[in-house]
Amino acid sequence: MLPSSPGPIGVFDSGYGGLTILKEIRKTLPEYDYMYLGDNARAPYGTRSFDVVYEFTLEAVKSLFERGCHLVILACNTASAKALRSIQQKDLPELDADRRVLGVVIPTVEALGSITKNGNIGVLGTPGTISSGTYDIEIAKFFPQFRTVSVECPMWVPLVENREFDSPGADYFVEKYVEELFGQEPEIDTVILGCTHYPLLLEKIEKQVAGRARIITQGELVAMSLKDYLSRHPEMDQKCTRGGTCTYLTTENPAKFTELAEIFLKSPLSATHVTL
Ligand code: DGL
Repeated sequence: MLPSSPGPIGVFDSGYGGLTILKEIRKTLPEYDYMYLGDNARAPYGTRSFDVVYEFTLEAVKSLFERGCHLVILACNTASAKALRSIQQKDLPELDADRRVLGVVIPTVEALGSITKNGNIGVLGTPGTISSGTYDIEIAKFFPQFRTVSVECPMWVPLVENREFDSPGADYFVEKYVEELFGQEPEIDTVILGCTHYPLLLEKIEKQVAGRARIITQGELVAMSLKDYLSRHPEMDQKCTRGGTCTYLTTENPAKFTELAEIFLKSPLSATHVTL
Protein backbone atom coordinates (compact mmCIF):
# COMPACT_ATOMS: atom_id res chain seq x y z
CA MET A 1 0.00 0.00 0.00
CA LEU A 2 1.54 3.32 -1.08
CA PRO A 3 1.44 6.25 1.37
CA SER A 4 -1.46 8.59 0.59
CA SER A 5 -0.34 11.71 2.47
CA PRO A 6 1.32 14.51 0.45
CA GLY A 7 5.04 14.11 -0.19
CA PRO A 8 8.07 15.51 -2.02
CA ILE A 9 8.44 15.67 -5.79
CA GLY A 10 10.64 12.74 -6.86
CA VAL A 11 13.51 13.39 -9.27
CA PHE A 12 15.19 10.31 -10.69
CA ASP A 13 18.37 9.84 -12.67
CA SER A 14 20.70 6.97 -13.40
CA GLY A 15 23.33 8.88 -11.43
CA TYR A 16 24.52 12.47 -11.15
CA GLY A 17 23.28 14.06 -14.36
CA GLY A 18 19.76 14.68 -13.11
CA LEU A 19 21.23 17.11 -10.62
CA THR A 20 21.60 19.60 -13.51
CA ILE A 21 17.82 19.33 -13.97
CA LEU A 22 17.06 19.39 -10.23
CA LYS A 23 19.11 22.57 -9.83
CA GLU A 24 16.98 24.43 -12.38
CA ILE A 25 13.72 22.98 -11.01
CA ARG A 26 14.61 24.20 -7.52
CA LYS A 27 15.49 27.64 -8.90
CA THR A 28 12.07 27.90 -10.56
CA LEU A 29 10.02 26.13 -7.86
CA PRO A 30 11.99 26.60 -4.61
CA GLU A 31 8.99 26.23 -2.33
CA TYR A 32 8.44 22.48 -2.89
CA ASP A 33 10.16 19.52 -1.19
CA TYR A 34 12.21 17.23 -3.42
CA MET A 35 13.59 13.71 -3.19
CA TYR A 36 16.46 13.01 -5.59
CA LEU A 37 17.35 9.40 -6.33
CA GLY A 38 20.50 8.49 -8.25
CA ASP A 39 20.98 4.85 -9.24
CA ASN A 40 24.74 5.41 -9.24
CA ALA A 41 25.55 1.78 -8.44
CA ARG A 42 24.07 0.73 -11.79
CA ALA A 43 24.92 3.81 -13.89
CA PRO A 44 25.51 4.50 -16.70
CA TYR A 45 22.19 3.56 -18.29
CA GLY A 46 23.16 5.04 -21.67
CA THR A 47 24.71 1.86 -23.00
CA ARG A 48 22.17 -0.56 -21.49
CA SER A 49 19.42 -2.40 -23.37
CA PHE A 50 15.81 -1.28 -23.50
CA ASP A 51 14.63 -4.02 -21.11
CA VAL A 52 17.25 -3.29 -18.47
CA VAL A 53 16.68 0.49 -18.50
CA TYR A 54 12.95 -0.12 -18.17
CA GLU A 55 13.37 -2.61 -15.30
CA PHE A 56 15.80 -0.36 -13.36
CA THR A 57 13.72 2.78 -13.92
CA LEU A 58 10.53 1.07 -12.79
CA GLU A 59 12.27 -0.08 -9.58
CA ALA A 60 13.37 3.51 -8.92
CA VAL A 61 9.90 4.94 -9.57
CA LYS A 62 8.32 2.37 -7.22
CA SER A 63 10.87 3.22 -4.56
CA LEU A 64 10.09 6.97 -4.83
CA PHE A 65 6.34 6.24 -4.67
CA GLU A 66 6.91 4.09 -1.55
CA ARG A 67 8.84 6.99 0.01
CA GLY A 68 5.84 9.28 -0.41
CA CYS A 69 6.24 10.90 -3.85
CA HIS A 70 3.09 11.29 -5.94
CA LEU A 71 4.88 12.90 -8.86
CA VAL A 72 8.21 11.67 -10.25
CA ILE A 73 10.34 13.39 -12.89
CA LEU A 74 12.63 11.12 -14.88
CA ALA A 75 15.51 13.59 -15.10
CA CYS A 76 17.38 11.23 -17.38
CA ASN A 77 17.10 11.18 -21.14
CA THR A 78 17.89 7.50 -21.44
CA ALA A 79 15.18 6.55 -18.92
CA SER A 80 12.73 9.02 -20.49
CA ALA A 81 13.46 7.58 -23.94
CA LYS A 82 13.37 3.91 -23.05
CA ALA A 83 11.11 3.49 -20.03
CA LEU A 84 8.70 6.40 -19.63
CA ARG A 85 6.02 5.37 -22.11
CA SER A 86 5.79 1.79 -20.78
CA ILE A 87 5.64 3.01 -17.19
CA GLN A 88 2.91 5.55 -18.02
CA GLN A 89 0.82 3.14 -20.06
CA LYS A 90 1.43 -0.23 -18.45
CA ASP A 91 2.58 0.22 -14.86
CA LEU A 92 0.94 3.37 -13.51
CA PRO A 93 -2.63 2.09 -13.89
CA GLU A 94 -1.66 -0.96 -11.77
CA LEU A 95 0.55 0.84 -9.24
CA ASP A 96 -1.68 3.86 -8.61
CA ALA A 97 -3.57 5.57 -11.40
CA ASP A 98 -3.41 8.90 -9.53
CA ARG A 99 0.39 9.11 -9.42
CA ARG A 100 2.34 10.59 -12.31
CA VAL A 101 5.71 10.10 -13.98
CA LEU A 102 7.00 12.76 -16.39
CA GLY A 103 10.17 12.91 -18.48
CA VAL A 104 12.59 15.37 -20.07
CA VAL A 105 12.14 14.66 -23.79
CA ILE A 106 8.70 16.23 -24.37
CA PRO A 107 9.49 19.56 -22.60
CA THR A 108 12.62 19.81 -24.77
CA VAL A 109 10.83 19.01 -28.02
CA GLU A 110 7.90 21.35 -27.27
CA ALA A 111 10.31 24.29 -26.98
CA LEU A 112 11.72 23.79 -30.50
CA GLY A 113 8.85 25.59 -32.21
CA SER A 114 9.89 28.94 -30.78
CA ILE A 115 13.63 28.40 -31.22
CA THR A 116 14.45 27.00 -34.68
CA LYS A 117 14.19 29.24 -37.73
CA ASN A 118 14.85 26.68 -40.47
CA GLY A 119 13.58 23.45 -38.83
CA ASN A 120 16.95 21.65 -39.00
CA ILE A 121 17.47 20.07 -35.58
CA GLY A 122 20.55 18.25 -34.31
CA VAL A 123 20.38 15.92 -31.30
CA LEU A 124 23.36 14.76 -29.23
CA GLY A 125 22.74 12.02 -26.66
CA THR A 126 23.82 8.69 -25.22
CA PRO A 127 23.81 5.62 -27.49
CA GLY A 128 20.63 4.48 -25.70
CA THR A 129 18.74 7.71 -26.25
CA ILE A 130 19.81 8.13 -29.87
CA SER A 131 19.27 4.50 -30.91
CA SER A 132 15.78 4.54 -29.34
CA GLY A 133 14.80 7.15 -31.96
CA THR A 134 12.67 8.89 -29.32
CA TYR A 135 13.73 12.43 -30.28
CA ASP A 136 13.14 11.77 -34.01
CA ILE A 137 9.70 10.30 -33.25
CA GLU A 138 8.59 13.06 -30.87
CA ILE A 139 9.92 15.88 -33.06
CA ALA A 140 8.12 14.37 -36.08
CA LYS A 141 4.90 14.20 -34.03
CA PHE A 142 5.02 17.83 -32.87
CA PHE A 143 6.65 19.33 -35.98
CA PRO A 144 6.30 17.05 -39.03
CA GLN A 145 8.00 19.67 -41.22
CA PHE A 146 11.29 19.61 -39.21
CA ARG A 147 14.33 17.53 -40.18
CA THR A 148 16.23 15.80 -37.35
CA VAL A 149 19.75 14.39 -37.42
CA SER A 150 21.48 12.88 -34.40
CA VAL A 151 24.79 11.54 -33.14
CA GLU A 152 25.60 9.15 -30.30
CA CYS A 153 28.24 10.54 -27.94
CA PRO A 154 29.41 7.52 -25.91
CA MET A 155 32.51 9.27 -24.54
CA TRP A 156 30.91 12.36 -23.04
CA VAL A 157 29.33 10.78 -19.93
CA PRO A 158 32.59 8.98 -18.97
CA LEU A 159 34.53 12.23 -19.50
CA VAL A 160 32.23 14.06 -17.09
CA GLU A 161 32.08 11.24 -14.53
CA ASN A 162 35.87 10.98 -14.54
CA ARG A 163 36.20 14.76 -14.08
CA GLU A 164 37.86 15.17 -17.46
CA PHE A 165 35.25 17.60 -18.80
CA ASP A 166 37.70 20.49 -18.58
CA SER A 167 40.71 18.63 -19.95
CA PRO A 168 42.29 18.92 -23.42
CA GLY A 169 41.25 15.28 -23.99
CA ALA A 170 37.62 16.40 -23.84
CA ASP A 171 38.24 18.84 -26.74
CA TYR A 172 38.98 15.93 -29.06
CA PHE A 173 35.69 14.16 -28.35
CA VAL A 174 33.65 17.36 -28.38
CA GLU A 175 35.04 18.20 -31.83
CA LYS A 176 34.49 14.63 -33.04
CA TYR A 177 30.77 14.41 -32.21
CA VAL A 178 29.84 18.01 -33.03
CA GLU A 179 31.50 17.75 -36.44
CA GLU A 180 29.80 14.40 -37.09
CA LEU A 181 26.50 16.15 -36.45
CA PHE A 182 27.16 19.11 -38.76
CA GLY A 183 28.66 16.69 -41.29
CA GLN A 184 25.21 15.14 -41.62
CA GLU A 185 23.44 18.48 -42.00
CA PRO A 186 25.44 21.72 -42.22
CA GLU A 187 22.24 23.81 -41.99
CA ILE A 188 21.37 22.74 -38.41
CA ASP A 189 20.31 25.86 -36.49
CA THR A 190 19.34 24.20 -33.19
CA VAL A 191 21.30 21.57 -31.25
CA ILE A 192 19.63 19.66 -28.40
CA LEU A 193 21.97 18.47 -25.65
CA GLY A 194 19.88 15.38 -25.01
CA CYS A 195 21.73 14.13 -21.96
CA THR A 196 21.80 15.45 -18.43
CA HIS A 197 25.63 15.35 -18.23
CA TYR A 198 26.29 17.54 -21.24
CA PRO A 199 25.76 20.95 -19.54
CA LEU A 200 29.13 20.32 -17.90
CA LEU A 201 30.70 20.28 -21.37
CA LEU A 202 28.71 23.30 -22.51
CA GLU A 203 31.63 25.73 -22.84
CA LYS A 204 33.56 23.36 -25.05
CA ILE A 205 30.47 22.47 -27.10
CA GLU A 206 29.67 26.17 -27.61
CA LYS A 207 33.23 26.82 -28.74
CA GLN A 208 33.05 23.99 -31.26
CA VAL A 209 29.59 24.93 -32.56
CA ALA A 210 31.01 28.43 -32.97
CA GLY A 211 27.77 30.30 -33.61
CA ARG A 212 26.48 27.88 -36.27
CA ALA A 213 23.44 26.94 -34.13
CA ARG A 214 21.66 27.65 -30.89
CA ILE A 215 22.35 25.07 -28.18
CA ILE A 216 19.50 23.86 -25.99
CA THR A 217 20.12 22.58 -22.47
CA GLN A 218 17.17 21.02 -20.70
CA GLY A 219 17.10 22.16 -17.07
CA GLU A 220 15.17 25.39 -17.55
CA LEU A 221 12.77 23.86 -20.07
CA VAL A 222 11.92 20.98 -17.73
CA ALA A 223 11.50 23.40 -14.81
CA MET A 224 9.12 25.64 -16.77
CA SER A 225 7.17 22.64 -17.99
CA LEU A 226 6.82 21.32 -14.41
CA LYS A 227 5.62 24.72 -13.23
CA ASP A 228 3.03 24.74 -15.99
CA TYR A 229 1.99 21.15 -15.19
CA LEU A 230 1.45 21.91 -11.49
CA SER A 231 -0.60 25.00 -12.30
CA ARG A 232 -2.82 22.96 -14.65
CA HIS A 233 -3.16 20.07 -12.17
CA PRO A 234 -4.16 21.47 -8.75
CA GLU A 235 -5.08 17.95 -7.59
CA MET A 236 -1.40 16.96 -8.00
CA ASP A 237 -0.09 20.27 -6.70
CA GLN A 238 -1.95 19.63 -3.42
CA LYS A 239 -0.14 16.30 -3.04
CA CYS A 240 3.30 17.98 -3.22
CA THR A 241 4.58 19.26 0.11
CA ARG A 242 6.13 22.70 0.44
CA GLY A 243 9.08 23.02 2.77
CA GLY A 244 11.91 23.93 0.40
CA THR A 245 13.91 20.81 1.36
CA CYS A 246 15.75 18.24 -0.75
CA THR A 247 16.68 14.70 0.29
CA TYR A 248 19.38 12.90 -1.70
CA LEU A 249 19.31 9.13 -2.08
CA THR A 250 21.87 7.01 -3.91
CA THR A 251 22.32 3.31 -4.57
CA GLU A 252 26.13 3.85 -4.32
CA ASN A 253 28.29 4.78 -1.39
CA PRO A 254 26.92 8.14 -0.11
CA ALA A 255 30.39 9.62 0.45
CA LYS A 256 31.33 8.84 -3.15
CA PHE A 257 28.03 10.30 -4.40
CA THR A 258 28.48 13.49 -2.41
CA GLU A 259 31.94 14.16 -3.81
CA LEU A 260 30.93 14.25 -7.47
CA ALA A 261 27.40 15.55 -6.84
CA GLU A 262 28.91 18.78 -5.53
CA ILE A 263 30.51 19.38 -8.95
CA PHE A 264 27.10 19.13 -10.61
CA LEU A 265 25.22 21.17 -8.01
CA LYS A 266 28.05 23.54 -7.08
CA SER A 267 26.95 23.34 -3.44
CA PRO A 268 27.51 20.83 -0.61
CA LEU A 269 24.94 18.16 0.26
CA SER A 270 24.59 14.94 2.22
CA ALA A 271 23.17 11.70 0.87
CA THR A 272 21.67 8.45 2.17
CA HIS A 273 22.24 4.99 0.79
CA VAL A 274 19.23 3.01 -0.51
CA THR A 275 18.75 -0.30 -2.25
CA LEU A 276 16.15 -0.70 -4.99
N1 DGL B 1 21.44 10.56 -17.29
C1 DGL B 1 21.76 9.93 -18.54
C2 DGL B 1 21.01 10.62 -19.67
O1 DGL B 1 20.55 11.76 -19.56
C3 DGL B 1 23.25 9.94 -18.81
C4 DGL B 1 24.02 9.03 -17.92
C5 DGL B 1 23.81 7.57 -18.20
O2 DGL B 1 24.15 7.10 -19.29
O3 DGL B 1 23.34 6.90 -17.30
O4 DGL B 1 20.87 10.04 -20.71
